[in-house]
Amino acid sequence: MKNQTTDRSTTLQKGKVMLRTLQETDARDLARHVNNKKIWDNLRDYIPFPYTEEDAKSFIASVANENPVYTFVITYEGQVCGVMGLVAQQDVYKKSASIGYWVSEDYWGKGIASTALELATHYGLYQLGHIRIDTSVFEYNPASMRVLEKNGYVKEGIFRKAIFKNNQIWDEHRYAIVRED
Ligand SMILES: CC(C)(COP(=O)(O)OP(=O)(O)OC[C@H]1O[C@@H](n2cnc3c(N)ncnc32)[C@H](O)[C@@H]1OP(=O)(O)O)[C@@H](O)C(=O)NCCC(=O)NCCS
Repeated sequence: MKNQTTDRSTTLQKGKVMLRTLQETDARDLARHVNNKKIWDNLRDYIPFPYTEEDAKSFIASVANENPVYTFVITYEGQVCGVMGLVAQQDVYKKSASIGYWVSEDYWGKGIASTALELATHYGLYQLGHIRIDTSVFEYNPASMRVLEKNGYVKEGIFRKAIFKNNQIWDEHRYAIVRED
């Protein structure tokens, strides 16, 4: 695992998978990959669908001044293939962060999300100093549950009927990892 931080960028790398700070020039690739209903079905509704290059530019601009960096583009062999983002919580939850991610369908099944989550989790706990990282998964997404479980996240509970997505009600599976030291 290799980590590198300068004033303007952070990169985390393991093998062919890298997380790096987003750049304006990533907009076209991001839009092309995330504009996929199979991805959107597993994300929150504030993320637009269809997803345009303008949407990607706005998203990249919205995270451009993060310091420290919380939002990363995922690359595989140097090619843009997804996003991994942490969000620091507030108030009494300030030591917690939530995490979210997607990987382009062109790249599914290569272990990319698993490695990217390993990198981001380690960064969130040991560089950003969070004590807890959590996320929620819709009930019909076993691939994401597997990625979380492979990285030591524990299913803490099921929030019954918490999700309204695509005009249907679904359960939400809540996962978290905590720093034990
Ligand atoms: C979920 C997602 C991130 C996985 O990305 P990926 O790079 O293909 O994931 P990986 O290859 O690292 O691992 C996927 C794991 O799920 C397993 N898996 C895939 N489909 C599965 C299924 N239907 N049932 C059970 N396990 C499944 C794979 O076998 C693999 O596990 P393994 O390494 O033990 O074989 C990707 O499919 C995606 O972006 N989906 C849409 C957006 C999304 O769901 N984001 C997360 C929201 S919580």
